[in-house]
Amino acid sequence: MHKLVLIRHGQSQWNLDNRFSGWADVDLTALGEQEAREAGELLKREGYAFDVAHTSVLKRAVRTLWGVLDTMDLMWLPVHTDWRLNERHYGALTGLNKAETAAKYGDAQVKIWRRSYDIPPPPLDRAENEAVHDPRYAALAPAQIPDTECLKDTVARVLPYWHEVLAPAIKAGRRVVVAAHGNSLRALVKYLDGISDADIVEMNIPNGVPLVYEFDADLKPLKRYYLGDAAAIEAKMAAVANQGKAR
Ligand code: 3PG
Repeated sequence: MHKLVLIRHGQSQWNLDNRFSGWADVDLTALGEQEAREAGELLKREGYAFDVAHTSVLKRAVRTLWGVLDTMDLMWLPVHTDWRLNERHYGALTGLNKAETAAKYGDAQVKIWRRSYDIPPPPLDRAENEAVHDPRYAALAPAQIPDTECLKDTVARVLPYWHEVLAPAIKAGRRVVVAAHGNSLRALVKYLDGISDADIVEMNIPNGVPLVYEFDADLKPLKRYYLGDAAAIEAKMAAVANQGKAR
């Protein structure tokens, strides 16, 4: 039996401010750092260990991974950072307050932008897209740098990382931890669990909670579960869903 642990970053400054983040490189709050350490404590208590770690090129996920690994005394582990694990690009919504955007355009429109499978938010103007000049994306072809992304676009870049990097490592018996983002993890979970385009709309991933997959030898999921207090996790998922509602 193979296992994989996924974890969404802890609370970021823009989670606290309720702003769309996407590819903006926002750091963790003190609570976010604490959530990362608590996730590490929980994993240690439950007897987890890892051989390799993967994360995005955004510091909220990287720092969450550091908190987990530090708490588990695993800071020596090989860590791979890759843009394909980044949060979904939020286009022209990046930086806007989610509740204010809902007050302006309506809760239903914001839910479409946040959760629909194939309707992207309005795009950034290329001239305003800072990723184009960001050295961390220098190896990408210009066409690979998005100006906006829907979940379908995110799936299209996350899945090659799954098939080329993560799945072969897990099949080879390596114990893998991935620290990533709400929507890059929704993309992966949608694929792994075969969730329909309609049903994925209602799925929200809580910050800083380890999500464990158990697979058979062919990486067919046998079980998926969060570690931790079920009521607290439900409350965190509901809070994520409610971020996009007008106050
Ligand atoms: C963001 O990019 O704002 C969050 O990390 C995920 O946002 P969402 O839950 O509104 O999709």
